[in-house]
Amino acid sequence: MNKRDFKSLIDINTQEFLKIIQRAIDFKELDKLNKIPRPFLNKTLAMIFKKNSTRTRVSFETAMYKLGGHAIFLSEDSSQLKRGEDISDTAQVLSGMVDLIMMRTNTHDEIKKLAKFSSVPVINGLCNLFHPCQLLADMQTVAETKGNDFSKMTIAWIGDGNNMCNSYINASKLLNFKLNISTPNGYEPDSYTLEKFGDNVELCDIPGTAANNADIVTTDVWTSMGDEQENEERKKIFKSYQVNMNLMSKAKKDAIFLHCLPAHRGEEIDDIILDSDFSAVWQQAHNRLYSSMALIEFLLSD
Ligand code: CP
Ligand code: NVA
Repeated sequence: MNKRDFKSLIDINTQEFLKIIQRAIDFKELDKLNKIPRPFLNKTLAMIFKKNSTRTRVSFETAMYKLGGHAIFLSEDSSQLKRGEDISDTAQVLSGMVDLIMMRTNTHDEIKKLAKFSSVPVINGLCNLFHPCQLLADMQTVAETKGNDFSKMTIAWIGDGNNMCNSYINASKLLNFKLNISTPNGYEPDSYTLEKFGDNVELCDIPGTAANNADIVTTDVWTSMGDEQENEERKKIFKSYQVNMNLMSKAKKDAIFLHCLPAHRGEEIDDIILDSDFSAVWQQAHNRLYSSMALIEFLLSD
């Protein structure tokens, strides 16, 4: 049996994406009834974090536990990675002991190297280029609030052309929704991703054009983890890219707002939006648990 990795969304096809979304919705219902199956007794997930996390860590650890298995948290500082062990060596050691490895790290190349040397499935828990796990929860939230006819939807991405934005581009190709992206000059998404997967993408000069008639408006922090030294400069450059009531008024009347979180209130997002009735961010964050469960099941059962 060939192992499956989840390095980015392009490791799955459209049917598999839709299946994972539906399974996540099912898991949510089963959890309400206290009827989550526990098929992964004695299965272990190793989680390597080279960057901070609240949602990714807690959702995967809880997901594994609820499915009958166990998760081990490894920070860079406390593991031998900090003292120079190569990720290829760590991969070969861990995959002899655990059933699944997730890593949050700086470069996508490191995720690829981990996957290459691991004999068990590898999950990208965020890197500089992609955040595919978040897109599973985002698309689950879209399906729950707007239905699953993704091809009829327009999503507006406002702000930095970062890892989340690149993953939205991958999702727009797989699920065939229209994606309007508005970023400041010089902060566009990854050019290769755009060229290869950007069929449904429109780059818009101003945020209002991107948000126009959108079903979903979404954004992310202006400064991602690892770019902290650019924070002050970015605050100035991104000033007119805040999602606020003025911008939301361009979207459809029943549009929802998404944010992967953590949010920097008052920067990329006006408080009033995050706490509004049309904000689905808490539902989106809670869905990380169920989409993680669906992904774990997919990778361990395939
Ligand atoms: N959205 C997300 O990945 O959150 P964390 O950084 O808290 O894991
Ligand atoms: N773009 C953000 C996402 C955090 C979940 C970052 O990489 O820091």
